[in-house]
Order: sequence, then C-alpha cells, then structure tokens
Amino acid sequence: MKKIWIVGASGHVGTALREMLDCVQYRLFLTDIDEVDVTDRNLVHSYITRTRPDIIINCAAITDLDECESNPERAYAVNAIGTRNLAVEAQAIQAKLIQLSTDDVFDAKMERPYNEFDKTHPKTMYGKSKFAGERFIEDLSNRYVIIRSSWVYGTGKDFVNTVLEAIGKEDTIEVPINRYASPTSAEELAKVIIQFIDNDCFGVYHAVCKGSCNRYEFAKEILALTDNEDKINLKPVEIENGTYSVLDNMMLRIDGLEEPCDWKTALKRYIVKTGGNV
Ligand SMILES: NC(=O)c1ccc[n+]([C@@H]2O[C@H](COP(=O)([O-])OP(=O)(O)OC[C@H]3O[C@@H](n4cnc5c(N)ncnc54)[C@H](OP(=O)(O)O)[C@@H]3O)[C@@H](O)[C@H]2O)c1
Repeated sequence: MKKIWIVGASGHVGTALREMLDCVQYRLFLTDIDEVDVTDRNLVHSYITRTRPDIIINCAAITDLDECESNPERAYAVNAIGTRNLAVEAQAIQAKLIQLSTDDVFDAKMERPYNEFDKTHPKTMYGKSKFAGERFIEDLSNRYVIIRSSWVYGTGKDFVNTVLEAIGKEDTIEVPINRYASPTSAEELAKVIIQFIDNDCFGVYHAVCKGSCNRYEFAKEILALTDNEDKINLKPVEIENGTYSVLDNMMLRIDGLEEPCDWKTALKRYIVKTGGNV
C-alpha cells in the first residue's frame, strides 16, 4: 500500500485531496501547520524519517497575496524554504514530491496562454517566493512534479465566497475586467494531482480548468449559478495594471493525462455540491 503524505492538508487543495483519496487504497498521512510546520527542518526530517512516505504532496503555502507583500520573510520561509526542506528529505528517501505552484511565476503580460516552457518572470512577492520553491525542488530533488494552477476555489477563503459573502452587506462590488485567468476548482485540480500518484511522469505541468475569463465574468457566473444576480450590483472596473495569466495544460496533453473540465462546468458542479453554501 502506497504511503502518501499530504502537507498543508486543511487548505483548499488538501481538503479536496483528502475527500477524493481512497484510504483503503492508500495509507494517508495528513498534516497542517499545527502538526508539521514546513519551515521547521528538524521537524520535517523527523516526520519523514518516521513515516517514510512514497509520495509527498505539498499543498502548504502562504497564498494570500497581500500577506506575502506585507511579510516577504514569512512568504519565503513557507513558500521557498518550507519547500526546500521537503525537497531535501524527499530526495533522501527517494519519495516522489508533488509540489503545487502558481500562474504568478509568470509576468501576466502574455497575449496567449503560458505553456510550461515559457519564460518565468514573477512580479508579485507570492509569485517570487513560489518560484524560489520551484527552483529549490529542481536543484535538490530528481523525483518531482510541479503542478501550476490558478484562481483555485473550494473549502476555505477564496473569490467565490468573497463574492457571495458580499450579498446583503454591499449594494455594489467593483470587479476588474482586465484581469484574466482560468478559475479552477480544487476538486478538478485534485483529480489531476491524483493521476501522478501512480504514473511515472515527472517535471512541470500546468493544470487549470479549460477556458478563461476576467474577474467580472467569474463573479457574474457565481451570481448566476446561485440565483443571486439581482441581489448585488457588479460594477466592471479597469485596474491600472491589467493582467493576463492564463495557463495552457500542454504537458498534460503531451503525456496523455486527463485535463480539468471547463471552468463553467467545474463551477456549476461546485455550486451544486455545496448548495451555494460556500
Ligand atoms: N488558492 C489559489 O488560488 C492557488 C492558485 C494557484 C496555486 N495554488 C497553490 O496550490 C497550493 C494549495 O493552495 P490552497 O489554495 O489549497 O492554499 P490554502 O487554502 O491557503 O492552504 C494552504 C495550507 O497550508 C497551511 N500552511 C501555511 N503555512 C504552513 C506551514 N508553515 N507549514 C505547514 N502548513 C502551512 C495553511 O494553514 P493556515 O491556513 O493555518 O495558514 C493552509 O492550511 C499552494 O501551493 C498554492 O500556492 C493556489
């Protein structure tokens, strides 16, 4: 029975993985910051030495962009050094390390979707710290998969519940029309991750729901699917530095792996599953 350690198991992606992984088929080890803080390299070493997982899925991160900007040291400690600590230990026991990463490793200025071979150039502190994590993995381990995604939602704080929570509190919310990416449900992302548990694919992969939209279109769809269109006004606004950070799942296609479904279908499934109580 393969042993899988999900690091950062209480977040969006960790929760989706927990819900989907069959604990009869795999032996699961689930930890979050209270059990194993990834910044503590002695703790990471002793946990891994004790449990000896075959697969490590690192979902632990500081994902709040503002928090990363205001506390870069913390962002680097978790997103880069925490990842380094896992990479060193994964290499020592030859475990496969599956690392989650982000579209923020790009500069968001491209006019077509970014593929895995496009030049990285992170602009945000979140993107810089996540990119540093990617570099540590590439330098320190040889059995790794880096999976980049974007606009992930699921159990936890995200854009979907931010929009829905504004109902009844605000008359109008302003939403940018010049920020583009692909909303991706944690469940669709987890389905991609799970394929790597038993295959022999390694390297960098993009995994986002098909299609793309701007933030305004995303918010509009959230309200439409929850029958809340008339409960709040959406005001389309142009922000100063518009971004386009749509990812292309080219490597999933090349390796014949299953891609996430389109973003509207995934969102609908999520709203139906949660009954709109997100
Ligand atoms: N969310 C997105 O839009 C998005 C987009 C692209 C890529 N990703 C990537 O996907 C991965 C998972 O994202 P997510 O949305 O599931 O994130 P999330 O919901 O913020 O979950 C991250 C988890 O990591 C935990 N954590 C924070 N610091 C830790 C530490 N020092 N040691 C151990 N655990 C720690 C957090 O605990 P606390 O809550 O207690 O801090 C939280 O439970 C991340 O690598 C992220 O960069 C996310």
